[in-house]
Amino acid sequence: MAREFSSVGVVGLGTMGAGIAEVLARSGLDVIAVEVDEAGITRGRGHLEHSTSRALAGGKLTQDEHAALLGRVRCTTSLAELADVDLVIEAVPENLQLKAEIFAQLDGITKPEALLASNTSSLSVTEIGVHTSRPGKVVGLHFFNPAPVLNFVEVVRTVVTEPDVVTDVVALARRLGKEPVVTGDRAGFIANALLFGYLNHAVRMYEARYATREDLDAAMRFGCGYPMGPLALLDLIGLDTAYEILESMYRQSRNPLHAPAPLLKQMITAGLLGRKSGRGFYTYE
Ligand code: CAA
Repeated sequence: MAREFSSVGVVGLGTMGAGIAEVLARSGLDVIAVEVDEAGITRGRGHLEHSTSRALAGGKLTQDEHAALLGRVRCTTSLAELADVDLVIEAVPENLQLKAEIFAQLDGITKPEALLASNTSSLSVTEIGVHTSRPGKVVGLHFFNPAPVLNFVEVVRTVVTEPDVVTDVVALARRLGKEPVVTGDRAGFIANALLFGYLNHAVRMYEARYATREDLDAAMRFGCGYPMGPLALLDLIGLDTAYEILESMYRQSRNPLHAPAPLLKQMITAGLLGRKSGRGFYTYE
């Protein structure tokens, strides 16, 4: 029988975690969102309120629906509060050690039948899952940024993920309004394996003064019909996140396409992280 999901834990309330919490709450699920400290909770709540107030202003949510949605997300700094959830979606930074520690803790806290999912974009779900006593109940559930807008997810199965776990997570994705694809556990899965070589190439072209940032972006938007040019998209993803994804894919595949362009590192060191810091390739208010 298919699993019922009624309450879901989200670990990490950054751009992706807050977006995922919103998607879950919009579908009527109760969400317990965990952050490391009060500052993290305040920032995460800010993301959630900003995004949902756009939907309210645009008439996509009524005042009551908006209030109900926010009421379904409870924030805490204690992982122990996830003891009774049916599923946890982890969305912390792309650091294998950090994710492994969190999964080991979740394994001790959650019900034995609870599923543990990672929103990792580029790390090995297999390597994360082996830090639990239930690797058969570990999957990747990879959302795309902005999660409330992009109706697609990759469901990543490892060689030991139980088939019914994949089936149930695929069904959940559909309930959330996301079209799922099932993919194997290879660096970058499908979308990032294709996307990040292109984004990195764009940074190298910009670094070599091949063209201006506006012209690089215009070529892909107007010449190829992409919704955003590559440099604007890097600003949306966050340069630090993009760097971590490239590094991780490069480490696993040694494909030179994924060796991060030096300019990315310099910009990160200088604090230019993209939209979230107010400045990346472009400047934001
Ligand atoms: N959060 C919530 N809602 C948002 C949003 C955000 N960050 N950004 C935009 N929206 C909403 C807007 O409110 C708007 O909603 P309404 O139609 O209800 O008004 C809608 O999305 C469209 O927004 P805009 O009119 O402002 O702008 P747009 O039409 O240019 O769309 C976009 C913006 C959705 C970001 C679009 O440009 C786009 O799809 N860009 C490409 C994004 C992309 O490629 N993402 C994948 C990144 S890779 C990844 O995520 C994987 C990873 O592991 C890092």
